[in-house]
Amino acid sequence: QEISNYDQKLAAAKKLSIMAKNGDCIGFGSGSTSFLAMKELAQRVQKGGLNITAIPTSNEIAMFCNQLGIKTTTLNEKKPDWCFDGADEVDKKNRLIKGRGGAMYREKLIMSNAKKAYILVDKTKFVDRLGQNFAVPIEVVPNAYISVKNRLLELGAKEVTLRLCGKSKDGPVITELGNYILDAKFDKIEDKLENQIKSIVGVLESGLFVGFNIEVIS
Ligand code: A5P
Repeated sequence: QEISNYDQKLAAAKKLSIMAKNGDCIGFGSGSTSFLAMKELAQRVQKGGLNITAIPTSNEIAMFCNQLGIKTTTLNEKKPDWCFDGADEVDKKNRLIKGRGGAMYREKLIMSNAKKAYILVDKTKFVDRLGQNFAVPIEVVPNAYISVKNRLLELGAKEVTLRLCGKSKDGPVITELGNYILDAKFDKIEDKLENQIKSIVGVLESGLFVGFNIEVIS
């Protein structure tokens, strides 16, 4: 029988939650799979007295940690021992596209400060070619978005779109830091693209994650 995507995410979340040990400071990713992992960890905190501290990667996950009784701190106070997160795509070299939820800057900040990242995915996230299903999200300062878009096209993007709110609100998505998000579709993603995007003036960060110490849990 086919296991649903939700059940696959939940199974990954459960595997992750048993890895936490007393005293761990853990970077908490964002998105629906990270949310499930957070709920599993919260149960261990509430029922089993597990003592952990979370460094959240979005206001949303911070809010739920507070509601569920998981202590939180920031990167300015503590370094994470390890972190967990979801992904939109994972390729055979463990390169990731992240940021469907727009939290890729804080997610990358935490991942780059953690010795190890556990990436929780259902099997729809595994791809042969990075970029085959998702565009690369890029957080840009609003007054630079046209010039950044043009540079991305020069770098080989075949389509670059400004992310819009949709039904919930008119206009562009505004990130937690007040920026816009450009979604750039690439046919071919080489490792160097991450740094090429990052070096465009006006780019805060991209959702392309290359070279991290990752263990994929599915
Ligand atoms: C949040 O901005 C993202 O990076 C998520 O981690 C990613 O989009 C995966 O989300 P799901 O777990 O909801 O699929």
